Formats: sequence, C-alpha cells, structure tokens
Amino acid sequence: MERNTKQNIILTGFMGSGKTSVGICLSYRLRKILLDTDKEIERRQGKTVSDIFAQDGEEAFRRMETEYIKELLNATESRIVSTGGGMPVREENRTLLKKLGTVIYLEASPETVYERLKEDTTRPLLQNGDAEKKITGLLAKRQDFYKSGADMIIRTDDKSIDEIAEEIMAGLK
Ligand code: S3P
Repeated sequence: MERNTKQNIILTGFMGSGKTSVGICLSYRLRKILLDTDKEIERRQGKTVSDIFAQDGEEAFRRMETEYIKELLNATESRIVSTGGGMPVREENRTLLKKLGTVIYLEASPETVYERLKEDTTRPLLQNGDAEKKITGLLAKRQDFYKSGADMIIRTDDKSIDEIAEEIMAGLK
C-alpha cells in the first residue's frame, strides 16, 4: 500500500525554539495527534534524555532518534511530530524527515533561546558551563543543517505560539 506520509507535519529547530508548544497548538487546530521524539524515546528507555546521555552517551541517543523516525515512516496516520533539537544534524535524519512529511524549521535567535532556557536543567548539552556561549556556538554549527533540511522556515522571535501556528497553517495551504 502506498503510504501517505507527506501529510505529516514535522517541527524542527534548536532547543527552546517552541517546537513542543507550537506542536500542541497545531495538534488542537488541525486535529492531529502530536508525537514528541524525546518523550517517546524517554518512555521506551524508561529514563530521561539526561540519563540516556549520561549513561549511554550522545551517540546512542542519536541512534535511537534515527530508529524512531524510521519506524514512523511505516505509520499510515498523519501526525504532527515535534523533534529533538539535534535531529536534523545527521544527514540520514534530514532525508528521513523529508520523506516523512513537511519539515518546518522554527528559527530562533541565540538571545531568544537563552532567555527561554537560562534556568533549564533538562538539556544535557547546555549544562556545566556558559550556556549562552554553548547556545551561540551550537546554533551557528547547526544553522545550515536546519535550513537545508526544511521545506518551510518560520522565524519565531517575538511571535506568539498562535501567530506561529497561523503562519504554518497559511504556508501549508
Ligand atoms: C538536543 C535537544 C533536546 C534533546 C536532547 C538533545 C539537541 O530536545 O533531544 O537534549 O541536541 O539539541 P529539545 O530540542 O526538545 O530540547
């Protein structure tokens, strides 16, 4: 059977770019189920992303991400998929995500990300050190991957979740 996977909406972007909040909003408005790759991996592993990084290492987590996206390609129902911020860094994932659906990159400036995450303790890549510097460096390294892996790019700085969702829906028409 031909699978209608292009109906999926995939949200990508750096940590703190609003993927989860925008995903929840789109899920209500479009009446589609929201899947969150981090949450699904945590559920399956029975531990948090931080514990996976600490105990199994980042590479193991990256393999879990790729495996999960491959599984989603076999699903028939169309969904909204909110991805972990590192997902598009692997070339294989960028290809898989585009196959899976319309990839929407939620672009946020380092300043916005820092403001949103300065008190956060759940992102292993931003702990132990100058978070602001880490955000700026990682975002600069990843920017091209996010952009080349996307079908649509939405700037999110100074916009409400509703405004971002509206923009996405208008772009999908
Ligand atoms: C990561 C982002 C996180 C999570 C993990 C690694 C990254 O997801 O997957 O901590 O490499 O940017 P969020 O973007 O949902 O915070």
